[in-house]
Formats: sequence, structure tokens, C-alpha cells
Amino acid sequence: MTTGNGGSVLAVVVVACLIFAVPGADAQLKVGYYDATCPDAESLITTIVHASVRMDAGNGPGLIRLFFHDCFVRGCDASVLLDDPTGTPGNQTVEKTAPPNFPSLRGFGVIDRAKRVVERRCPGVVSCADIVAFAARDASRIMGGIVFAMPSGRLDGRVSNATEAVANLPPANFNLTQLITRFASKNLTADEMVTLSGAHSIGRSHCSSFSSRLYPQIDPTLNNTLAKALRAGKCPAATGRLDRVVQLDAKTPLMLDNQYYKNIGTNEVLFNSDQALVDRSDTAALVGQYAANRKLWSQKFADAMVKMGYADVLTGPPGEIRKVCSRVN
Ligand code: HEM
Ligand SMILES: *[C@@H]1O[C@H](CO)[C@@H](O)[C@H](O)[C@H]1NC(C)=O
Ligand SMILES: *[C@@H]1O[C@H](CO)[C@@H](O)[C@H](O)[C@H]1NC(C)=O
Ligand SMILES: *[C@@H]1O[C@H](CO)[C@@H](O)[C@H](O)[C@H]1NC(C)=O
Ligand SMILES: *[C@@H]1O[C@H](CO)[C@@H](O)[C@H](O)[C@H]1NC(C)=O
Ligand SMILES: *[C@@H]1O[C@H](CO)[C@@H](O)[C@H](O)[C@H]1NC(C)=O
Repeated sequence: MTTGNGGSVLAVVVVACLIFAVPGADAQLKVGYYDATCPDAESLITTIVHASVRMDAGNGPGLIRLFFHDCFVRGCDASVLLDDPTGTPGNQTVEKTAPPNFPSLRGFGVIDRAKRVVERRCPGVVSCADIVAFAARDASRIMGGIVFAMPSGRLDGRVSNATEAVANLPPANFNLTQLITRFASKNLTADEMVTLSGAHSIGRSHCSSFSSRLYPQIDPTLNNTLAKALRAGKCPAATGRLDRVVQLDAKTPLMLDNQYYKNIGTNEVLFNSDQALVDRSDTAALVGQYAANRKLWSQKFADAMVKMGYADVLTGPPGEIRKVCSRVN
């Protein structure tokens, strides 16, 4: 009996290591990190995310992008959630006020609600950074049926700096080389960059993010039919009305699927950074594979989201568990 148990325990440990080990990530996150300290945390968060997306489907894409924008600036430490400590309106010092985030980033209210609920159940236990990661995982399941476990154990940072958001978040006019370099700086491969860009299969963009492809001339790599429709419709001028929004994937705007990769094939993607994925033979081949195989993409997307969640994680000092996600303790 002892040997039998020892053997199966060992087997479970070995299997667990095979499943949860992320190559190249030395930080200690783990699946089920709150199982002992706050066993209901993940399910409470999931319930809030479900209700929020039901109320406003835009929270789905919003939360997935929030995770990306958190992880690329100072790591996944919830720095994107911090408000200006001076509380001065118009003092553009924190990440959330920087151009890549303001006014387009959304989902903050969902995180705040989830934090309040979890805090009531287990005060001071669950980090805001982990709530952002769980919410992105839940949104992926709700919007795309993409199911995966999200390792946790992140701590919240105490610094948020607008300049760093501008410096680290890739802009829509980036070319392929620039995209690959930027993702490499977060230990993500070119393949993972292509995979994660599939998130542009849901959600929206303000005209300002791609109007340089419409005016003064239509970018020849943008589908002419789509470009003309945008000029005549949602994005009527190079200046003015830049506040209007357009679906990133006009075909299946609410489904996190591989339609994005098909849209690249017909030049029906909004950003230069999207169309640029076919500018090198290896990334173009991957775009083709994903366009043909939704299941393959979904699995790779899940893996890449988990890997992105390891970017510069904070698991010790000066990290903390914030009481309120928008301010340091
Ligand atoms: C590859 C480089 C990327 C660039 C240049 C980029 C750029 C952008 C831009 C300009 C917008 C529209 C913002 C607006 O004007 O409203 C956007 C939206 C979005 N991005 Fe990205 N992005 C990139 C990668 C990613 C990644 C890795 C993810 C997540 C895994 C992601 C998820 C999203 C989502 C879901 C939206 C829609 C947001 C909403 O509807 O609120 N993006 N992105
Ligand atoms: C903006 O915030 C910074 C850093 O917190 C502070 O030093 C500065 O005085 C603030 N500026 C204004 C105009 O309030
Ligand atoms: C924000 O980051 C920039 C770039 O790293 C740095 O120059 C600046 O001093 C930082 N601002 C604050 C208030 O720490
Ligand atoms: C990408 O942009 C960088 C910076 O502007 C430029 O140096 C490089 O030549 C561009 N690469 C390609 C392949 O267009
Ligand atoms: C542009 O989009 C239309 C409509 O989806 C499609 O039929 C056409 O083939 C696309 N053009 C190019 C150059 O891919
Ligand atoms: C990337 O990996 C290196 C080596 O393990 C590590 O020092 C660095 O902090 C990682 N970068 C990020 C953004 O996680």
C-alpha cells in the first residue's frame, strides 16, 4: 500500500510538472494558488466576469486586452489599474492615462467588482494582478470556448508610469520586425506574437488607430472594398469623428475564433500590425495554418496567454496584495 501510494503520488507530481511547467519561466506561479487560502476566489471571479459580459459583451475583449496591456508594462502586476496618486484630473502620469490605454482600454469596472467580492470573502489574499489574469482566462472561455487553467500567485506592483506604457505597448503601425522585437523583449516568440494577435478576432477599434491607412490614400495592403466602406461610413475623415469605433472582425465580431486569420487572407484587418503578419514566410505560414484550423489556434492561444502571464511577474517584495485595485496600500 505504501509503495502503491508513493508511486501514484510521484506519478501525479511528475504529470503535474509536465502540465504546468512553462519553459523559460523561472517565476513560481501555480495553478490553484488560492485553493487553500481562498478556495472560492476563482469561481467568484468567474461569476462576476460572466455577469459583466452578459451585461456588456464589450467587457469580453476589454478584459483580454487589459491583461495584455498589464503584462507588457512592468509585468503582470496590475500597474495598469492604478489611478494617479495625486488625483489631479488631467495629470497624465499613470499607465491608464497613456495614449495606448486612454480612452480605449475597458473592463476596469469588472476588475473592481470582482475585487470587492473576493475581498469580502477573503480580505487581503487575492492580488489584483491575478484577478486580471483570471478575468482574461474567463473572457477567452466565454467569447471563444477556449478553456485553460491560469497559474496564479502574482503580487501587485506599487508603480505605474505613463511613459512606460507608451514605450512598451506596440502601436498599430508597427511592422513585423518591430512586432517580433517587442514581443521578444517579453520573452514571447514570433509564433506566440502571431498567435496572440488572434485576439483581434473580437472587439473594436477607434478610427484614429488606423485612419492613416485610409487617408490621404487608401493603403494598398488594406482591402479596397473595406477601405471605401470605412471612408464612406464609420471613419469619414482624416480628422474629426475619430471617436467612432469599428469592429475588428466584421464577420464574427463577438466570437473569439480563427476568423481573424482568414481576414488577413482577404486583407480585411484594420491595423498595419495585423496585415504585417504575412510579411515573412514563416509567420505567413502560421497565419495560413490558423486560418485553416480553429482548434490548433485555440490551443496555441491558450498556451500563449498562460506564457504571457509570466512576463516579469512579481512574487516577492516590493509586491503587495492591494486592498483596492486602483491604489497602492
Ligand atoms: C501585436 C501587437 C498589437 C497591436 C499593435 C495592437 C493594437 C491594438 C489597437 C490599436 C487596438 C484598438 C484600440 C482602439 O483604438 O480602440 C486593439 C484592440 C484590441 N486588442 Fe490589440 N494589439 C496587439 C496585440 C494584442 C494582443 C497580444 C492582445 C491580447 C492577447 C490584443 C487584444 C486586443 C483586443 C481584445 C482588442 C479589442 C479591445 C476592445 O474591444 O475593447 N491585442 N489592439
Ligand atoms: C502629477 O503627478 C506627479 C507625480 O505623482 C506630481 O509630482 C505632480 O505634482 C502632479 N502634477 C500636477 C499638475 O498635479
Ligand atoms: C517614468 O518612466 C520614465 C522612463 O523610464 C522615466 O524617465 C520617468 O522618470 C518615470 N517617471 C516617474 C514619475 O517615475
Ligand atoms: C520596420 O521599421 C523599422 C523602424 O522604422 C525600420 O528600420 C525597418 O526597416 C522596417 N522593416 C521593414 C521590414 O519594413
Ligand atoms: C476584399 O474583401 C472582399 C469581401 O470579403 C473579398 O471578396 C475580396 O476578395 C477581398 N479582396 C482582396 C484583395 O482580398
Ligand atoms: C525573460 O527571461 C529572462 C531570462 O529568464 C529573464 O531575466 C527576464 O526577466 C524575462 N523577461 C520577462 C519580460 O519576463
